[in-house]
Formats: sequence, C-alpha cells, structure tokens
Amino acid sequence: MMFPQALMALGALLAFVPATQGSTSPCVYQGYKCGYTMVTEFGYNNTELTFAVNKTNVVPPLNTIQLLNVLYRCVDTRGDIAANSFCIAGCISVGDFTVSDECAM
Ligand SMILES: *[C@@H]1O[C@H](CO)[C@@H](O)[C@H](O)[C@H]1NC(C)=O
Ligand SMILES: *[C@@H]1O[C@H](CO)[C@@H](O)[C@H](O)[C@H]1NC(C)=O
Repeated sequence: MMFPQALMALGALLAFVPATQGSTSPCVYQGYKCGYTMVTEFGYNNTELTFAVNKTNVVPPLNTIQLLNVLYRCVDTRGDIAANSFCIAGCISVGDFTVSDECAM
C-alpha cells in the first residue's frame, strides 16, 4: 500500500466533490477498489466495469463474477475508473471509502 495517510486526506477532501457521472458517488481519486465495492458502495454498474476492463490490455475480457473481483483504480476526480488487476484469489474490501482494497494473496 502506498501513502495511506495521503490517501485518507485526499479521500476526506473528495468526499465533498459532487458526482458528475451517473454513479451514486465518484470513486476516491487514486484509490483502488474491488469491483463489488464499486457496485455496492459507489453505484457503478456492470457496463462501466466491463468498459474499464476493455479499455486496458492488462486485463482480458471477463465474466460478471470475475468483473467483481477485479481491482479498479480511480483515475480522476470525475469517477472514471480503469481496471488495474484481476484478483485470482479474490478481491478484499477493507470496508472504508478512504482506504484502498487489495487482492487476496
Ligand atoms: C451504467 O451506467 C452508465 C453511466 O452512468 C449508464 O450510461 C448506463 O446506462 C448504465 N447501464 C446500466 C445497464 O444500468
Ligand atoms: C468488451 O469486450 C468484449 C470482448 O471483446 C465485448 O464483447 C464487449 O462488448 C466489450 N464491452 C464494452 C463495454 O466495451
């Protein structure tokens, strides 16, 4: 994990930035979140997760269950996301908006 303090400070700031996308709330800029966290906590849908995976050549096309176990990176303050890595052993949510999720080892 990188600079958890900095991420938390940033998360506190961004919590007050209004959503500009259809999502319930934008992700925390530069934070990493599991697919299922994106859906349940931030209101992203499968189309958006699929698109984020398709945009990158890092992660191959995945089924719905797999999409939920991808770790996504929040790439800007508007809530755009990019797939970072597919968690083969499952994605672990820390359960806090301001703390990044991670792949199970
Ligand atoms: C998913 O979200 C996008 C952006 O908010 C929206 O355009 C799209 O219609 C949604 N798709 C579904 C299946 O809800
Ligand atoms: C993502 O790629 C798959 C396989 O190439 C394709 O079937 C799907 O329509 C694409 N989805 C989006 C949202 O671009």
